[in-house]
Amino acid sequence: MSSGTVLVTGGAGYIGSHCCKLLAAEGFEPVTYDNLFRGHRELVKWGPFVEGDIRDRDLLEKTIRRYRPAAVMHFAALSYVGESVENPGLYHSVNVGGSEVLLRAMTACKVKQVVFSSTCATYGMPESMPIDEQHPQQPVNPYGVTKLAVEQAIGKWSAETNGSSVMLRYFNAAGADPELETGEWHEPETHLIPLALAAADGQGPGLTIFGDDYPTPDGTCIRDYIHVTDLVQAHLLAMRTDAPAGESQAYNLGNGEGFSVRQVVDAVEQVTGKAVPVSNGARREGDPASLVGSSARARRDLGWQPRFDDLGSIIATAWGWYQQQGASSQ
Ligand SMILES: NC(=O)c1ccc[n+]([C@@H]2O[C@H](COP(=O)([O-])OP(=O)(O)OC[C@H]3O[C@@H](n4cnc5c(N)ncnc54)[C@H](O)[C@@H]3O)[C@@H](O)[C@H]2O)c1
Repeated sequence: MSSGTVLVTGGAGYIGSHCCKLLAAEGFEPVTYDNLFRGHRELVKWGPFVEGDIRDRDLLEKTIRRYRPAAVMHFAALSYVGESVENPGLYHSVNVGGSEVLLRAMTACKVKQVVFSSTCATYGMPESMPIDEQHPQQPVNPYGVTKLAVEQAIGKWSAETNGSSVMLRYFNAAGADPELETGEWHEPETHLIPLALAAADGQGPGLTIFGDDYPTPDGTCIRDYIHVTDLVQAHLLAMRTDAPAGESQAYNLGNGEGFSVRQVVDAVEQVTGKAVPVSNGARREGDPASLVGSSARARRDLGWQPRFDDLGSIIATAWGWYQQQGASSQ
């Protein structure tokens, strides 16, 4: 697919809004469908907006019939691990129930292609590293369980309807649009880089490091950070490559390199020129010491080439966005 309309569920959110910008730049019309539960109307800048819930089949079908998208990029979800432990029913309703409604609406309206935002949380505790797509999927929290259930529902949908589907399993999305037209805006924020930037800026009580006694070189957890612009580039490639009809493909999206919490804090201090006040807290249950992915398959099959492969440049874009948001709220 090289032009046309794309329905972007969750397009008012962090990653979805970056994807809308890229789609528009590449000649597509992104139609954002989002209930603004966690998204922001201000981030919908590159195409029409429909305010709606993915569990609302009537509105979804009406939207699809009106805009006639050739493909769906499905970002809409709830994605806080802690919240999913407290309220697994809500996560099941939105993530699994909502995705099933979306698939039914797609079938009814003959939309044959979907690219789904999955996650490394579907793998659970790593048995080998780097994690590739063959790694067993044994999620250890309700969020990961719901995302795996959606992967399975989409796989079944592809087989039954001859649809084509791609699951993109992200590691940690980070950074912001280098032109600062959109960026990370989660409320509440749970991600390390924006929290460390806020701490460097003197906001709040400082950054808590959850566990400093892990079996890693400096004792803090290691994660794989991938720039949001690189992530959405993979979405475009996945849509253009178009998995064979009736089939489902899965690709990891990560940098293949891990950075510890302390390394991230050091890089934030370098980029901002400010000290990050930190305190050491207890480990969080279910946090693996290290999570690093192999994206060899995406590089090989999709021709994906992440551009932001060093932590400093990822953090620099996040800092630019953070400063701009602070300036605009004053
Ligand atoms: N951010 C990450 O590091 C990361 C990592 C792995 C996977 N993911 C996945 O990527 C996707 C996007 O993540 P994000 O960080 O941009 O999150 P986000 O919260 O910024 O965006 C999600 C969007 O979905 C919308 N939404 C939620 N429930 C909805 C509903 N019932 N109906 C319609 N819209 C609804 C929200 O309002 C929000 O705009 C999610 O599916 C998430 O699970 C994110």
